[in-house]
Amino acid sequence: MLTPGAYKNMAKNKLEKFAEMANFANVVQPAELMVQNFEYKGKWSSDFFHNDNPITLELGCGKGEYTVALSQAYPERNFIGVDIKGARIWKGAKMALEGNIKNAGFLRTRIDMIDNFFGAEEVSEIWITFADPQPKKQNKRLTSAYFLNLYRRFLKPGAIVNLKTDSRLLHFYTLELLKANNIEPIMHTDDLYGSPLPDVNLGIKTFYENMFLQEGKRITYLKFSMDINKPIVEIPKFEFEE
Ligand SMILES: C[S@@+](CC[C@H](N)C(=O)[O-])C[C@H]1O[C@@H](n2cnc3c(N)ncnc32)[C@H](O)[C@@H]1O
Repeated sequence: MLTPGAYKNMAKNKLEKFAEMANFANVVQPAELMVQNFEYKGKWSSDFFHNDNPITLELGCGKGEYTVALSQAYPERNFIGVDIKGARIWKGAKMALEGNIKNAGFLRTRIDMIDNFFGAEEVSEIWITFADPQPKKQNKRLTSAYFLNLYRRFLKPGAIVNLKTDSRLLHFYTLELLKANNIEPIMHTDDLYGSPLPDVNLGIKTFYENMFLQEGKRITYLKFSMDINKPIVEIPKFEFEE
């Protein structure tokens, strides 16, 4: 158990990170009330990245391992890590600044309102990395019909969605939801490291992934695309014993 002194240090550490991050050029932290007229909505390319390169989002990015690694691997693309937790985003944003990585940005907000921050057909790809499976609240899963319908509002036709998770509930739920909506996955595996990786990017390991691997958990992966004009319909309550 942490001592009161250790708690105090942690809180101080967080406040220092928040203060430092307020001046990071690669972090956008909208005030909740400004959400209706967000300055970069539809303008991330021209006003934030200053180029026309395709944009990839990492949703629930935590410390932003995918955002940072992919932005280094693909300088001709742009990447935005999205998370509500500032102290986690600080880590990825700091790495990107120290590495002089210009094609990575971070947006601190709730994904529940993500469509307020991106305009129609602004995003080419999404990564969802080790999201909370929300066992009791199906519509809070980041791949629920509710969220997929939010993403449809800003995805380009043919955009790719990648889901990497340790949660078999989240993996099989998403597969079932796609099936019910007549969407054929592009690729899916319930044991990613059980055979040679089909794509080198799948080997990027996040903070949570490393923890889950140490616990001996198997990692799953699912890649799909949606018709942006066709609403996704939710399925009845889907449960799965992890
Ligand atoms: C289990 S962590 C995974 C973090 C990182 N992707 C990784 O693999 O290490 C889930 C992350 O999603 C974020 N998150 C969950 N729900 C969210 C929401 N509705 N809006 C914004 N962030 C959310 C949490 O703050 C947390 O950092």
